[in-house]
Amino acid sequence: MKIEAVPIKSINTEITVPGDKSISHRGLILGSLANGETRIHNFLTSEDTLATLEILKSIGANITQVSKNEIIVRGNGLNSFREPFDVLNAKNSGTTTRLLMGVLAAQKFYSVITGDDSLKKRPMKRVIDPLSKMGGRFFGRKGGENLPITILGTDKVVPITYETPVASAQVKSSIILAGLHAKGKTMVKEPAKSRDHTERMLKYMGADVVEKEKTTIISGPANNLKGKDIFVPGDISSASFFIVAALITKNSNLLIKDVGLNPTRTGILDVLKMMGAEISIINERNLNNEPIGDLLVKSSKLKGVEISGDMIPSLIDEIPIISILATQAEGKTTIKDAKELRYKETDRIKAICSELTKLGIEITEKDDGFDIIGKQKIKGNCTCNSYNDHRIAMSLAIAGTIAENPIKIQNFECVNISFPEFLSIYKSLKS
Ligand code: S3P
Repeated sequence: MKIEAVPIKSINTEITVPGDKSISHRGLILGSLANGETRIHNFLTSEDTLATLEILKSIGANITQVSKNEIIVRGNGLNSFREPFDVLNAKNSGTTTRLLMGVLAAQKFYSVITGDDSLKKRPMKRVIDPLSKMGGRFFGRKGGENLPITILGTDKVVPITYETPVASAQVKSSIILAGLHAKGKTMVKEPAKSRDHTERMLKYMGADVVEKEKTTIISGPANNLKGKDIFVPGDISSASFFIVAALITKNSNLLIKDVGLNPTRTGILDVLKMMGAEISIINERNLNNEPIGDLLVKSSKLKGVEISGDMIPSLIDEIPIISILATQAEGKTTIKDAKELRYKETDRIKAICSELTKLGIEITEKDDGFDIIGKQKIKGNCTCNSYNDHRIAMSLAIAGTIAENPIKIQNFECVNISFPEFLSIYKSLKS
């Protein structure tokens, strides 16, 4: 599907965005490992989360989708899964693959996991290394590093102490999920703190999890996990597209309600404040161990900043939309220490640089990021490639709201991976 992104004069409205993708995946997985009923409210129904749901069902989980955003998981404890009949397909979802590899490493059966062409290229050694130390066995393409991967799980998971080479919540969560089965303490240390939704949900369900700065310790076996009600907050990564739209269009006032504000995810808000954005957080509260609140965003005069180091994991998914914002900030915006972007759904550094160049923007590509000197006009009048990457597609659509000419975006249907409602909200902003 090709769309044409067109200018928007100003945004004056109130919206909500769909449930958080990371928390929706974890609700399904942890609910299946717990004992008793977990009801997930405001669940994100998208291609990625449905991949997790289908795989869990194929290994025997009892999950009912009551309505689009309501799920009931009837958990039967850590050892209630069975060998799947067929190959498991994680489609485009890295979170599904890496988290479920942690689950499957601790099940004494044979399974094979695969995905789409993008996922088949993404690095899996980062989870295979620690999970092998814990007793799982893995066989895959490219010397065992790429999907399809065969997993021979164990019922004797060994607790480990592990330093991850990259700050990745997917890697950390994978180790924690296997560690739930190990007798003793499994410890994961990261170079920078990544999102901690797994840890928070596990604590909420009664597990013994300790978070000390960049180290997480889980004590197993966690046979006492209890099913709970989970309200999934709005996804701050999805909200970011509209936050940026309101900041860069004139005379805008946008209220986004019920957004997840977990500090390991709000790096985008910290950066926007540094850039001079007028954003206020109201109605802050806590729901199932996750902070949530409403965001009030006004069009703002912005200045360029450097985004690097430990900040990167807290806004890793927002860098494509930050690149659009940077074109409208006065001075230089630098993204560095973000080489991880090259291993996402597509090489996002390459995709951002090539598509912004098509839009008429001067951008300098670096190995671990890019530089943009603003303000620059977005000329448009071109056809852009989404690279089948949902976050690239949505960022380009937001660029279209202030472009001088229309921007066509190819393969826009990839937004269904995380945000199927994107287009309807986007169209409703026109005023
Ligand atoms: C996710 C973690 C991040 C993020 C991805 C979702 C998660 O990946 O980019 O969209 O739910 O754990 P890494 O932790 O591998 O950087």
